[in-house]
Amino acid sequence: MKFVRNDGSKKTVVPPGAELVLPPEIGGLKKPVTRSRNLRIFPDSLFISESLMDKFVIRGGNPLVGNVRISGAKNAALPAMAAAILTDEPVILENIPDVRDIQTERKLLVSMGAEVELGYGRAAHRTTISCKNLVNPEAAYELVKTMRASTLVLGPLVARMGRARVSQPGGCAIGARPIDLHVKGLERLGATIRQEHGYIEATADRLRGGHIIFDKITVTGTEDLMMAATLAQGETIMENCAREPEVVDLAALLTRMGAKIEGAGTSTVRIHGVEKLHGARHRIIPDRIEAGTFVIAAVLTGGDLTLTNCEPTHLGALIQKLEECGVKITAAADSLRVTNGHQLIAADVTTEEYPGFPTDMQAQYMVLATQAQGTSIITENIFENRFMHAQELVRMGANIKVEGRRAIVRGKTPLSAAAVQCSDLRASASLVIAALVADEETIIDRVYHIDRGYERIEEKLKGVGAQIRRIGEILPRRAAAPSVVA
Ligand code: EPU
Repeated sequence: MKFVRNDGSKKTVVPPGAELVLPPEIGGLKKPVTRSRNLRIFPDSLFISESLMDKFVIRGGNPLVGNVRISGAKNAALPAMAAAILTDEPVILENIPDVRDIQTERKLLVSMGAEVELGYGRAAHRTTISCKNLVNPEAAYELVKTMRASTLVLGPLVARMGRARVSQPGGCAIGARPIDLHVKGLERLGATIRQEHGYIEATADRLRGGHIIFDKITVTGTEDLMMAATLAQGETIMENCAREPEVVDLAALLTRMGAKIEGAGTSTVRIHGVEKLHGARHRIIPDRIEAGTFVIAAVLTGGDLTLTNCEPTHLGALIQKLEECGVKITAAADSLRVTNGHQLIAADVTTEEYPGFPTDMQAQYMVLATQAQGTSIITENIFENRFMHAQELVRMGANIKVEGRRAIVRGKTPLSAAAVQCSDLRASASLVIAALVADEETIIDRVYHIDRGYERIEEKLKGVGAQIRRIGEILPRRAAAPSVVA
C-alpha cells in the first residue's frame, strides 16, 4: 500500500482501489475509490462529501448513435418500496433503478426497522424488503429534507402500525409543494393528526373507508392514500385522482399483495379495505422521463438512438409534441427509435397532469425549443417555480424570457459552452442535453441532483458516443489536509 499525503499540488489522479481519508479531527472517515478520479487538491483542504462536489465535463457536437437500455422508474419504485410497509411478509421488487433517491428510501426503511436486501450480479436491480419488525414508525427530517417522496410512508405506516411521525418537507427548489392533501385525506379516513415541531403525527386504531375528493390532482397524494385505504375498514372512494402510470403500477403491486382496487389510472379509484396484505413479487415499469430525456438528447444531436426496455405508450404526449416539431419517432412494443437531421419547428407546450405533457419533461423540452425555428411558449402549470434552468440556458446563448408561469423561447440560437449549475433533477437533465449540443466544453456543477434520478447517465451517454466525464473536486477549507491511501 502506498500512502500519498496531500502536498498541496494542483491535481492528482486517484486510482481505483485507493481510499480517500479525512483528517482525524473530522472523524478520519475513509471512502473507497471505485473508479479513477481526477481530483483537485488544495493546500489545507479537507474532503467534503466527494459526490456532492462532482461535476460533469461535456464536449458537445457528437451525435448519439446506438442503443440505450432504460432503467426502472424512480417515481414508481419509491411508492412501491413504501408499500412494503403494509405487510409483514417480504416484498420483492425487480427493475429498481440504482439512483440516489432509492438509496435514501432504503435508509428510511432501515431506520424504521425494515430489512432491505439488495440483489447483486444479474439480480442487481432486485430489492427485497421485509417489514416484519418495524419498530420506529418515523421519517426523520434529515431524510425527508433530502427527498420529499419520503412522505409516502405516512399512509402505509398509519394503516399498518396505527401511528406515523413524518417530518414536514419544507420548501423546495421547484415550488412550495405542501402535503396538506395527504393529511386531509388521512383525516377523511379517520386518522387523528397533530402537527408540531415540524412533524406530522398521525394516529388511528384502524383507518376506516371514506370519500376523498382531491382539491387538486396530486401524484404522491393519490399513492399515499391509496396505500392507506388498502387496510382501512370498508370502502374508500377517491375522486380527482392522478392517472399517472406510476399510480397504476403501484395499484398493480398492491393488488398482487391482496388489495382490492378498481379504477387506478382513471380519476376515480375505489378501494375495498382488507384485514391483511401479503408479500408479492413485482417488476417496476420503465422510466418514461429517463426515456424522454434520451429522446430529446438524440433529436438535438442529430443522432439515431434506439431505447430498449421502455414503454412508448407512457410517452404519448411527448411523442405527439415532438412529431409536431418535425421529429421522426418509431415506436414498437417496448422500444423506441428516434432519428433526426431535419430542422425543428417551434411548438408551444403546456404542462399538465398525465396524460398531458409532463412537467418532468418541461426543462428538457425547453432546450429543444432553443434549437427549433420560431417562437415556442412553454407554460408550466404544475409547479410555480420550475424555470430555474432557463437562466442557465440563457448563459449558454439561448433566447428565453420568463414571464411568471410562461417561458418564451425564440429559436434557433447556437448554444455555447459555459460553466453552469444544476438546481433540481430535471433542470440538470436539461443542462446535460444543452451541453451535448453546445460547442466546446461545458462544465456542469452540482450533478448530485442528476444522480438522484438518472442511473449512470454519463456511462449510458458515453456508450452512445457522447463525450462526457465526471470529475470530483475538493473545495478549500480551513482544516488539516486529507490523505490518499493507494
Ligand atoms: N400539491 C398540493 N398539496 C398536496 C400535494 C400537492 O398543493 O398535498 C400541489 C403541488 O404543490 C403541485 C401539485 O399539487 O403544485 C402537483 O404535485 P404532486 O403532488 O402531483 O407532485 P408530487 O407527487 O410531489 C410527483 C413526482 C414529481 C413530479 C410530480 C408531478 C414522485 C416521487 N414525484 O411529485 O417528480 O414532478 O409528481 O408530476 O412521484 C421528479 O421526478 O423530478 C419529480 C419532481
